[in-house]
Amino acid sequence: MADDAIQMLKDDHKKVKQLLKDLTSGSGDKKETLRKIEKEVQTHTHLEETIFYPAYRKELDTIEGKDLVEESLEEHHLVDKILEDLNGLKVDSAEFRGRCTVLKEMIEHHIKDEEKEMLPKAEKQISKTKLEEIGKRMKQEKQEFKPERVIKVS
Ligand SMILES: [Fe+2]
Ligand SMILES: [Fe+2]
Repeated sequence: MADDAIQMLKDDHKKVKQLLKDLTSGSGDKKETLRKIEKEVQTHTHLEETIFYPAYRKELDTIEGKDLVEESLEEHHLVDKILEDLNGLKVDSAEFRGRCTVLKEMIEHHIKDEEKEMLPKAEKQISKTKLEEIGKRMKQEKQEFKPERVIKVS
């Protein structure tokens, strides 16, 4: 179902994984791809941090659930830091390519953690109705959210 929170998150993950592949492969407009990644990542992490994670923490009121959320928040923070470090770089520089590779690895690792641990637990323990309700809130917020930062590379 389209409004299901878990499906929405997975769809975003798929999209960003493809963009990261484009960013680190030889072809295409890197500036444009990075701009898309930044927008996707900022929006996605915003939805998770303000809606999905708090709901998850509440519904799965266990130490394990809380720890998974903390780990995820820390990973968001690291991804954000790498994105910030790309600011001002030239797309044809070794620094740019190196940081993009780390960005890709970090995001892929984070997505794997969410999809292998966090989301299956949510699917098992949060009711379908509740997941749809969370999904609806995320969908609405997604339409209204404007990412703040825009990376400038040349
Ligand atoms: Fe995610
Ligand atoms: Fe996340």
